[in-house]
Amino acid sequence: MNRSDPARLIYLDNAATSHPKPSAVLDSVVTCMTERGGNPGRGSHALALAAAEDIYACRTLAAALFGLSAHPENVIFTLNTTHALNLAIKGMLAEGDHAVCSDMEHNSVLRPLYRLQTDGRITFDVFDTYPTAPRRTDSMILSSLASKITQKTKAVICAHTSNLCGATLPIEKIGAFCHERGIKFIVDAAQSAGVLEIDMVRMHIDVLCVPGHKGLMGPQGSGMLILGEGITLDTLMEGGNGMDSLSGEMSLDAPERYEAGTLASPAIAGLRAGMEYVREMGIDRIYRHETLLGAWARDGLMALPHVKVYAPRQAGGVVLFSVDGYDSEEVGRMLDADGICVRPGFHCSALGHRTLGTSEGGAVRASFGWFNSEEDVDALLRAMRRIVG
Ligand code: ALA
Repeated sequence: MNRSDPARLIYLDNAATSHPKPSAVLDSVVTCMTERGGNPGRGSHALALAAAEDIYACRTLAAALFGLSAHPENVIFTLNTTHALNLAIKGMLAEGDHAVCSDMEHNSVLRPLYRLQTDGRITFDVFDTYPTAPRRTDSMILSSLASKITQKTKAVICAHTSNLCGATLPIEKIGAFCHERGIKFIVDAAQSAGVLEIDMVRMHIDVLCVPGHKGLMGPQGSGMLILGEGITLDTLMEGGNGMDSLSGEMSLDAPERYEAGTLASPAIAGLRAGMEYVREMGIDRIYRHETLLGAWARDGLMALPHVKVYAPRQAGGVVLFSVDGYDSEEVGRMLDADGICVRPGFHCSALGHRTLGTSEGGAVRASFGWFNSEEDVDALLRAMRRIVG
């Protein structure tokens, strides 16, 4: 394999960022920068207005995709999911509040919570999601969650789908549980947006944090914070937003309240094209494709000696495994030498690795996307056969 030829690499790291992107995404970025490159919301000349129109169209599309058609103004553009989660968590939790998150959270949830706890502002607890249990049921997860709720619990925060092994939580039931108790529900859709249907109203989601550059196939530098009806957060950043320039304070209105500074218009233009592409292909079809490849990979890897697959009963295209006697980084390097791009290590989720029992040496993650094929699974299995001898 010629590792210097990107066209010949087999890309199995779609959980980190999807690659390649649809050509319409690339075209939109170029059109934005060549023909519609004004600063949206700043000034009323033709190019600023054209840019503002494009931004609004992207908000409208995102609102429809996540079940909030009537509220495009609740779609706030961020740099990535981590940015959205920081806004959600730090903007919602106040002095004395308690929060609960799942045992599979990424550092993008855990670190903001730790920071608030270390500063003495909040406390939080972790509920079990049993990703490796042979007979995992929704009620097991819900009773663990219930056992962590206190009088002071303001919010439950959890990843819809784990970035480690694809384990997916019963979001609709968790959302209903929260709303019956007056608790806010924040969902990290880093791995599920564009792959699983998400309806914020039906699923009782108050705040949805979404990457633009993964399942929605947009460029890196695009992300979204989507607020349910009636949700107002404290701000994380203040500055110019093209509105109320004479006031010292950020206005209360979304989206401008949360969008201080110039937006990443080219990334947002690409995100819009990515979402249009996903809508055209069909979220169900994308999910079925990734799940099929993930299942083939899990079955093939489980048949190999010395290979352990974690949470093998989970669906979706994210597959986590380790090889006896090897550190995950070593396996990653050997696959890399074969032109196969995977992500070994801890995937920014020490908590999730502890839950899966992989916190020593980490594990190797292969994550399949829409542009992968059966041949890519075969290439991974061939390379792994060589490694385990
Ligand atoms: N959170 C991303 C991953 O899992 C970057 O790789």
